[in-house]
Amino acid sequence: MGSINASVDLRRDGEVAVVTTDNPPVNALKHEVRAGLVEALRQAREDGAVKAVVIGCAGRTFFAGADITEFGQPPRPPSLHDVIAAVEGMPKPVVAALHGTALGGGFEVALACHFRIAVPGARVGLPEVKLGLLPGAGGTQRLPRLVGPEKALRMIVTGEPIGAAEAQVLGVVDDIAEGDLTSAGVTFARRVVAEGRPLSLVRERDEKLSAEGFADAAETLTQRLRGQDAPAACVEAVRNAIVLPFEEGLRRESELFRRLVAGDQSKARRHVFFAEREAARIGDMPETTKPRPIGRGAVIGAGTMGGGIAMCFANAGIPVSVVDTRRDLLQRGLDRIAANYRTTVSRGGLAADEMERRMARIAGGTELDAVAQADVVVEAVFEEMDVKKQVFGELDRLAKKDALLATNTSTLDVDEIARATGRPRDVLGMHFFSPANVMRLLEIVRGQETSFDALATAVALGRRLGKVPVTVGVCYGFVGNRMLARRSAETERLLLEGALPQRIDAAVVAFGFPMGPCAMMDLAGLDVGWRIRQGRGERAVIEDALCEAGHYGQKTGKGYFRYDAGSRTPLPDPEVEKLILESSSRLGINRRPIAEEEIVERMILPMINEGARLLEEGIASRPGDIDVIWVYGYGWPVWRGGPMYYADRLGLARVRDKLTDYAGRSGDPALRPAPLIARLAAEGRGFGS
Ligand code: CAA
Repeated sequence: MGSINASVDLRRDGEVAVVTTDNPPVNALKHEVRAGLVEALRQAREDGAVKAVVIGCAGRTFFAGADITEFGQPPRPPSLHDVIAAVEGMPKPVVAALHGTALGGGFEVALACHFRIAVPGARVGLPEVKLGLLPGAGGTQRLPRLVGPEKALRMIVTGEPIGAAEAQVLGVVDDIAEGDLTSAGVTFARRVVAEGRPLSLVRERDEKLSAEGFADAAETLTQRLRGQDAPAACVEAVRNAIVLPFEEGLRRESELFRRLVAGDQSKARRHVFFAEREAARIGDMPETTKPRPIGRGAVIGAGTMGGGIAMCFANAGIPVSVVDTRRDLLQRGLDRIAANYRTTVSRGGLAADEMERRMARIAGGTELDAVAQADVVVEAVFEEMDVKKQVFGELDRLAKKDALLATNTSTLDVDEIARATGRPRDVLGMHFFSPANVMRLLEIVRGQETSFDALATAVALGRRLGKVPVTVGVCYGFVGNRMLARRSAETERLLLEGALPQRIDAAVVAFGFPMGPCAMMDLAGLDVGWRIRQGRGERAVIEDALCEAGHYGQKTGKGYFRYDAGSRTPLPDPEVEKLILESSSRLGINRRPIAEEEIVERMILPMINEGARLLEEGIASRPGDIDVIWVYGYGWPVWRGGPMYYADRLGLARVRDKLTDYAGRSGDPALRPAPLIARLAAEGRGFGS
């Protein structure tokens, strides 16, 4: 009894042994934890005075899973299977006491216990699919036995956890613990002993193992996950739970896990998992920097963007004022917010009373003085420098001291905007992506004078709003849109050289994006870029011609594609085809068929090249930051790891040679390999090195 090792502790409370793991921050099941658990269980088993065991964790959560940093390293026994065998081999009742997030291998350990109790706020789930894996420690065999295959499949393929209340209804947890969890666990264990309750193991149960509804659920759940290995493996494993004996199902699960964990898709997803967390760090920020408290927000501008940003605040429980000086626009904005919430309620995504609570957090006003109470102000007015500067001048006068002043500009110079105030250290960009209440990316634009605590505040606020914040430097388009501009330029060229919108989009969708560049432009509105180009004296042959012909995208029912009334399905448009062919012939271009492989390369390599330049200029701090931006802001397929990660997989020498070739053919100097690519390729290295 006592300390087993640095992570695991064993003590006795009367006849109950309490095994507690403390491995901050999330009690991942690293080697030392597994070894400690096996040893603690051995001691508890051999101690005649022990009649039952409670397994729990200190800190913020029960085991949140296997230690992901150990994947890809040689296995070190005892394995998670050994821990589970020690639990299941225990001739005395074992109770798992759950709090926080019992995920992956952590939940699988709990599933092997005889009983499970949880605090009301606990969540349990098998999120391995999000790492390109399947649950590898029996989860695909035990969960179907506990909740039925259809429900288990739903949880495993989506990776979404469930709350304690639902877990109790499903029979996953036996009791909800009020008050202190460990005491509740001990009390529960004593009751089991006193009542002589039988020690049933999940593996021995089969009353819910029915194939009913399974095939349909498998079909609908995986429909939109084409190209991904893990969901298909999850389906196979859960089906095995129905048709194979337990041990055989377990053996197949291990095989599938080993194959996935060594595969490219899981490696890519693990890269994104860590890159996402790394992106929240700002390299030169002193560790002592503390974010400022945020109790109230204000959003200037009640347009689509402003409304979406206000919803983010309300959803996160932060009261927010929306200010628009024009009463009609304000009302329209507030109506749009209410309509958005109503849609979510009608689809079952939100309870009606929760919608009321969220709406009640949003106050509308036409006077800028409303910002005086706000700890953060996000400006989302018209994308024009003079307008923005005027707003920031006013904010300087009205906002309280130490308020964070953020602009949601997507193109303008944040430093110039900051200079319109007497407090540039409080000013930065918070670049949300449309629709702001849905898209998870948040580019935090660091100005020359932005202070560390302002940055720390923006990052912390971003996470509170459920976003993935990535800090970037000031330049035209920042990271995401500057790279996107390269893709758009290449789309134009492909259209002129011989490809049609439907062909380009199909190639990009086949690569794994949810939509192609042309459908995306139709969604965003072609006129936006057109106006910006007019202001900058730039031209895009096809896109401008489309705008001149009234093709603004979905909002006008026609863009690169045409749309039937009320529909969002892009349909090939003969009128557009004609316009493209005429443009080619006007420029004397002989159109040719372009292979899918070439389309994909030309959609992706110019972006990678621009990404390299952004790294050279220090606008992006890490290649992983760029990957996170593209995964969360632009739908880059997460199982391909992001553009910079993908470039490393291709090999930078190949990237360099292809770019050199395309630069020569097109005559576009922007396509010449960035010096960083040339240097790394010559050294045989990648961005990740
Ligand atoms: N292994 C190693 N490190 C982990 C980890 C894990 N399973 N889960 C989280 N961490 C680390 C994070 O990298 C982060 O590290 P830094 O502070 O150094 O950046 C730290 O723990 C805190 O994580 P978050 O910032 O994500 O904290 P949070 O409170 O926002 O979220 C969480 C906590 C919900 C547990 C979230 O971290 C999470 O979802 N983790 C992954 C859970 C998971 O996928 N588990 C399954 C693992 S695979 C498995 O178990 C396979 C199997 O069947 C054998």
